[in-house]
Amino acid sequence: MRPSLRPDELLGSLRPSIAALPDSGIVEVVQYGMERPGLIPLWVGEGDATTPSSIGDAAVAALRAGQTFYTYQRGIPPLRQAMARYLSGVHDREIAPERIFITASGMQAITLTLQALIDPGDEVVLVTPVWPNILAALNILGGVVRAVPMTLTDRGWSVDFDRLADACGPKTRAVFVNSPNNPTGWIMPREEMEALADLARHHGFWIIADEVYNRITYDTDHAPSFLEVMEADERIVVVNSFSKNWAMTGWRVGWVVASPALGQVYENLIQYNTSGVATFLQYGAVAALEEGLGTIDAVRETCRIGRDIVCQRLGAMRKVRLARPQGAFYAFLAVDGETDSRSLAFRLVDEANVGLAPGSAFGPGGEGFLRLCFACSPARLSEAMDRMEPMLS
Ligand SMILES: Cc1ncc(COP(=O)(O)O)c(C=O)c1O
Repeated sequence: MRPSLRPDELLGSLRPSIAALPDSGIVEVVQYGMERPGLIPLWVGEGDATTPSSIGDAAVAALRAGQTFYTYQRGIPPLRQAMARYLSGVHDREIAPERIFITASGMQAITLTLQALIDPGDEVVLVTPVWPNILAALNILGGVVRAVPMTLTDRGWSVDFDRLADACGPKTRAVFVNSPNNPTGWIMPREEMEALADLARHHGFWIIADEVYNRITYDTDHAPSFLEVMEADERIVVVNSFSKNWAMTGWRVGWVVASPALGQVYENLIQYNTSGVATFLQYGAVAALEEGLGTIDAVRETCRIGRDIVCQRLGAMRKVRLARPQGAFYAFLAVDGETDSRSLAFRLVDEANVGLAPGSAFGPGGEGFLRLCFACSPARLSEAMDRMEPMLS
């Protein structure tokens, strides 16, 4: 008989850094509460509206038409061309298709970019709190995170730029900035982007800009972008996704904008990770870009109404402290007297039947807060507020 190994023996013979990866602090609460009848889930980063049917129809038509084969590693030419037109319009400067690489999600855009840049021990400056997957992706590669936590003042969330600049130096391999930020809604001002770009030029580090929420803004058409302050052939990679702006989270289609000089590198990385994104999904993405701004406007309007409800209702609850988010679709709230966000998130499941994400999952600066996604219907949000009110007032 062959010897059988216990689970701990199998786990013990994995790469130690992988065996030690923490569970996502968000998923832990989701798993705890997902089966509860009637629970209102506001813990993950997506709304409750399905992808518009015109986008789905285009994907289905492509599938029916036989678009079922291996495909271009960088993405199909019609999608890269449509993306170049879309981005050139948004950012009011020419962004050529040669700079665009289609990936299997924004998450994969991040992973591939880190694979290209980070060796074990490389230092990455990261503005936090931030989406936990970014920290985990860095961990997997052995990157050393230097966190620069933002702070919440009466004027909202901000980063002390001097602290950010002090964290950067000759040892910095890359600075990772997610703006608009998940979870705080902070948007990096254009002047700070310019100053950071100057620092990157001076020290020779890369900037990785995660701009997946760049159209979920409330006072402007789009958030400032590193695409507008840096040139094509600098050390800049911008990652983005169809998930949030077009209500396409389940599609897993994203993209990277980088120098054309990195074309073969992304082509190789895509080849050796997933070998490309399903062609019929890419045709759906073309339809998303070509149908104009209808979907983005609708998503934004849902978020605007959601933000008003949540800020007004939470703002009136005695124990709650929060800033009105400038972008993205999350409220990041602190509750007086509550310092352990994980246990508070579990209690909200038990006592209010509402699912929020614990701030502790979002790295330095996140503990003591809870994240609530408001990209959903007003009725759902109002009901969640009614249920939470007794605990938070
Ligand atoms: C900041 C940030 N970046 C990237 C992503 C990745 O999006 P996706 O993998 O769905 O394209 C998310 C998703 O929540 C996010 O919040």
